[in-house]
Amino acid sequence: MGKRGVDAVLAKRASDRQRASSLACGLGVPVCLDPDELGPETTLLVVGAEGLSLEWDGMVLRGDFSRMARRLRPSGLSHELLVRAARVRGHRQVAPSRGETPEPSSRIGAGSRVPWAIDATAGMGEDSLLLAAAGFSVDLYERDPVIAALLRDALERAAEDPLLAGAIGRMRLHEEDSVPVLEGLACTGPSVGRGPGGPTLSPPDVVFLDPMFPTRQKSASAKKKLRMIQRLEEPCDAEGRLVGAALAAGPRKVVVKRPLKGPCLGGVKPAYALAGKAVRYDCLIPASMRYDLHNI
Ligand SMILES: C[S@@+](CC[C@H](N)C(=O)[O-])C[C@H]1O[C@@H](n2cnc3c(N)ncnc32)[C@H](O)[C@@H]1O
Repeated sequence: MGKRGVDAVLAKRASDRQRASSLACGLGVPVCLDPDELGPETTLLVVGAEGLSLEWDGMVLRGDFSRMARRLRPSGLSHELLVRAARVRGHRQVAPSRGETPEPSSRIGAGSRVPWAIDATAGMGEDSLLLAAAGFSVDLYERDPVIAALLRDALERAAEDPLLAGAIGRMRLHEEDSVPVLEGLACTGPSVGRGPGGPTLSPPDVVFLDPMFPTRQKSASAKKKLRMIQRLEEPCDAEGRLVGAALAAGPRKVVVKRPLKGPCLGGVKPAYALAGKAVRYDCLIPASMRYDLHNI
């Protein structure tokens, strides 16, 4: 097999064949109906009753947002470092959780609106879900077709879960490279922001970046997940362009997830950082916003 990507799409049941064929066609790989035909080193995208999974060497990677339900409660969310790092003034922030009853407009405050985040490196979408649960409308960009397929499948399953549906409804996945999109926002100015529900007059409030970093996490499960994703994705090789595009898009801040002791992305120093036990969130403020840090 090639160094990156999957070798085949496996349909576990007869009823999975049509979906497997369409995925295989998009990825340019064969459909497989019998796993015994395959060698041990094969990387497979598997369609089955539990959804879509990536399987290699006995390891299985499947998106499952239901595991995050506890972290999404308002009491948990307010402690999430990412949510604190992404906080911007003048918006409704932590959204109601169970049942997602909308907050009465009188409590949202005059001039308040739903904040808009772009997750330019979506991966399996867990960080985006935290932002969406905290009240952001999130546009997720994922350029790897296999990871995007796993993420889309996880989003579709989560949309059926009443505990997650509200936040999932604020997430939109785009299967494309985020850099040209961010650069496009920069070129055409604030009048073409896409925002929740279509065109908007504002640039995004927050651009979030979490590109692959090879030696980031130490826990066994994180290592396993990372190894699976690394089967598909090389570590980020264009850090400078990614950060530059994010800043040029004109958000109120760019939040970058880094390993605790890792270097700044693209060598760009943050205005400030929030550090946890294993990761750090670098907060970059575009030049046009720096005049008034208190409004961020
Ligand atoms: C470390 S993972 C992100 C993990 C994610 N924060 C999460 O919560 O699951 C990085 C992902 O960013 C994607 N990526 C990197 N550069 C990108 C770009 N320019 N546009 C879109 N996706 C990109 C990679 O394909 C990879 O899936």
